[in-house]
Amino acid sequence: MNPNELIEAAFQALEHAHAPYSEYRVGAALLCADGTVFKGCNVENASYGLTNCAERTAIFSAIAAGQREFAAMAIAASGDSTPYPCGACRQVMVEFFQQDFPVYVARSDGHDTITLGKLLPNSFKFGDTDA
Ligand code: THU
Repeated sequence: MNPNELIEAAFQALEHAHAPYSEYRVGAALLCADGTVFKGCNVENASYGLTNCAERTAIFSAIAAGQREFAAMAIAASGDSTPYPCGACRQVMVEFFQQDFPVYVARSDGHDTITLGKLLPNSFKFGDTDA
């Protein structure tokens, strides 16, 4: 699957966002190693802190379905800014993706590609040492 197809899936996912408070809609599409794509959207809550980001919705859906090997993720959002993932989502990505994992951050006029290692260098992993 090429990046543009995965980005298209992220824009489709955005349509399902539940974002009545921020009115900022986010969609994510996660490509698994077997070719399956899991979509996620942001799901807000009246108790704001309970909001789940699009990226984590996609990752948790894939994990719950038994997936463990992943190839790429695309992220799309309403508005013109480039939708880089928040810090919490970056930390969740580190749990499941390798450092060279590609993340496509999409705008209406194109996208940037960035690796997870660039998004979250020197990340926390349980039991990691500097050795
Ligand atoms: N949001 C995401 O879905 N992903 C991110 O990486 C950053 C923020 C959502 C959460 C909330 O619903 C809205 O964007 C505004 O913060």
